[in-house]
Amino acid sequence: MKESWKATEAKRVTGEGNQGLLLYRLAGYGVHNRDLKPWMTGLLTALSLMMVTVTIGLLAHFLASGQKMERYQRTFTISDIQVKSNSGQKSSNQLKDLQEMNEKLVDEIFIDSALNKHYLKDHTVKLTPEEGDAKADIVMAFQPPSAGQRTMGEKKTDSILNKKTRTTRALPANVSVVQVGAMCSSAGKLTVQAYCGKRAIPLIVSRIVSGNLAAKGAWPWQVSLQRSNIHQCGGTLIGNMWVVTAAHCFRTNSNPRQWTLSFGTTINPPLMKRGVRRIIMHERYHPPARDHDIALVQFSPKVTFSDEVRRICLPEASASFPPNSPVYITGFGALYYSGPSQNELREARVEIISNDVCKQRHVYGSDIKRGMFCAGYLEGTYDACRGDSGGPLVIKDSKDTWYLLGIVSWGDNCGQKNKPGVYTQVTYYRRWIASKTGL
Ligand code: ARG
Repeated sequence: MKESWKATEAKRVTGEGNQGLLLYRLAGYGVHNRDLKPWMTGLLTALSLMMVTVTIGLLAHFLASGQKMERYQRTFTISDIQVKSNSGQKSSNQLKDLQEMNEKLVDEIFIDSALNKHYLKDHTVKLTPEEGDAKADIVMAFQPPSAGQRTMGEKKTDSILNKKTRTTRALPANVSVVQVGAMCSSAGKLTVQAYCGKRAIPLIVSRIVSGNLAAKGAWPWQVSLQRSNIHQCGGTLIGNMWVVTAAHCFRTNSNPRQWTLSFGTTINPPLMKRGVRRIIMHERYHPPARDHDIALVQFSPKVTFSDEVRRICLPEASASFPPNSPVYITGFGALYYSGPSQNELREARVEIISNDVCKQRHVYGSDIKRGMFCAGYLEGTYDACRGDSGGPLVIKDSKDTWYLLGIVSWGDNCGQKNKPGVYTQVTYYRRWIASKTGL
């Protein structure tokens, strides 16, 4: 779905308008219908009183629980929505997707801004479909700096919104403010799932060793980890300053100053480069054992997400994926065992192989430990190879959102019969990742 996105003025609703705060609209009813019967007026008054009571109750709840939050409401206009042509109606699914997308965009804007430590969450209070576009009333919640209890500053919020919405889809943004009190009762749950795992182009993979060249923007989370500007390993972008990779990449050198990251589908020229600030190898990675082959790389400056650079989603620790699921591996690694690394990113479709199958004696037997899994084909051919290490093995859900399941770790030779690739299992290390990065 391609749409342009801008923030417009949040109108206070009187008789003729229909955007803005739900509360305003209720209040506006009395003004609009002058010839209401007395009992109706009574009912409406009772209703309004009820709303006020609920609002006060919620306010009291938030104040009592000591949760100091500031909320701002803005109306966002999303233009150029593709409407289902025959009916002209947007299905409720489309609207739900739109709402989700909007909320994620707001998340992304603030998480990637100077207010990221204060931003808590956003919530759509109203979505109004119109011809060709839609208006979304979104309430954003911030935690103000605690010490002096200063306010976050609407100016700062708006200047960030203005700047970002303009660069998002190049439409002029005009933001104004309606501050709201305890609008959303769910504001206490502080789960922010930022925009992740989406890519700007559709999947056209027909099917690394024996893979295909990747299209621009197809795998925007892929990075190349380089030492003295020479590609060593792959890695995956999981946040605007975090990459996850394999610990064995740093076996001989874990000095962050000697490492750089590059983004984009070619190593030369790179789309963008970053310096490595910190390398966190798993504490229990002790070579030559291959267990716990996972590391985190913090880089700077932060990246701004775009069509070509985007973070992937991390699965929940409890997520599981059935054997034979189609998954994709990508990398700049060799096309055959002992071959050279590649300048252009390649992709291959492989399948998850169950532990039962992979632990058979003629496959890898007891070399497969907890926190590892196999993927590929027992017949061979499609596989990762040297230089793909640390890179992603990803899966797509039914909503075309991509998740990181595996990290290229090891394998006997490349693409050989009964010797599929072995990957670090991301769900197994999900809490470790969260403990180090907060993601
Ligand atoms: N350890 C290798 C590297 O350093 C990656 C091995 C993956 N091998 C395989 N057959 N899947 O790049």
